Amino acid sequence: MIGVFDSGHGGLTVFTALVERFPRYDWLYYGDHAHAPYGSRPNREVVELTQTAVAKLFMAGCKLVILGCNTATAVAGRTLQQEWLPTVNAQRGGHRILGIIAPTVEAVTQTPWSVKEPVFPQKYNTDVYALFATEVTVRSGVYEAEVAKRCPKARVVSLACPKLVPLIESGALKAQMAAAAKIYVDELLVKSGVIPQWAILGCTHFPLIEDLFRAALPPQVRILSQPQVVADGLEDYLARHPDVVGSRVASGRGAVQYFTSGEPSEVSRVAGVMLGRQIIFGRF
Ligand code: DGL
Repeated sequence: MIGVFDSGHGGLTVFTALVERFPRYDWLYYGDHAHAPYGSRPNREVVELTQTAVAKLFMAGCKLVILGCNTATAVAGRTLQQEWLPTVNAQRGGHRILGIIAPTVEAVTQTPWSVKEPVFPQKYNTDVYALFATEVTVRSGVYEAEVAKRCPKARVVSLACPKLVPLIESGALKAQMAAAAKIYVDELLVKSGVIPQWAILGCTHFPLIEDLFRAALPPQVRILSQPQVVADGLEDYLARHPDVVGSRVASGRGAVQYFTSGEPSEVSRVAGVMLGRQIIFGRF
């Protein structure tokens, strides 16, 4: 079974793409709605909350957990992989944690994991990437660092958009979210001084309002669809780790379950409105 975690509803965008891509695996989604949003919390809290959530998913039988949250990936991903996972695996082995920022940067820079240093044509890449994300993700500088490793001449212009996640989580009116998205897009365009080649929606909540970003952005700016690139990234990961395929991680009968730390009926209602289909959450 594979677990996908987010602070709230945002990870459902990634989860949906993963389930569609790998329909035979067993999937478990966990939204920590009781503590959402994570995006403006101190790093230490994000790490603690993420560790607690991943531990719950391991306890539930997930061997692989995907952090379907940029905020958690940005400040907790590496720390948990390097400092906590070895102690978990010393007791019962085989657990893995994957983040979603590396596959996103690989896709947008067209520089896969196997490229260890900038080579032609990456070293001539002077693209400007507009990054819309949470305060924690922007403050971490992870996107800038990951892009710089691959394409040193490319530029990331990032902007924290702290109003959007609370609006999305509360199921706000579309007009209200459109106005907020437009203000952020305009602010980023002023900051960048040029029209970016790409807009990275670096928060998994934002694909839920991708149409509002599309309407606010100049038409020539391409939007990176993070759910699809995360699904591509998992496909690539499984191809490189044949041991995972066929193990308990990637076996199953296509069971899909949803859990929340929040109020299941309200979380299910909002998820239904967002995704346009019924999703029943249980308490976790
Ligand atoms: N969906 C999460 C992300 O990708 C963060 C939302 C939050 O602020 O909790 O960053």
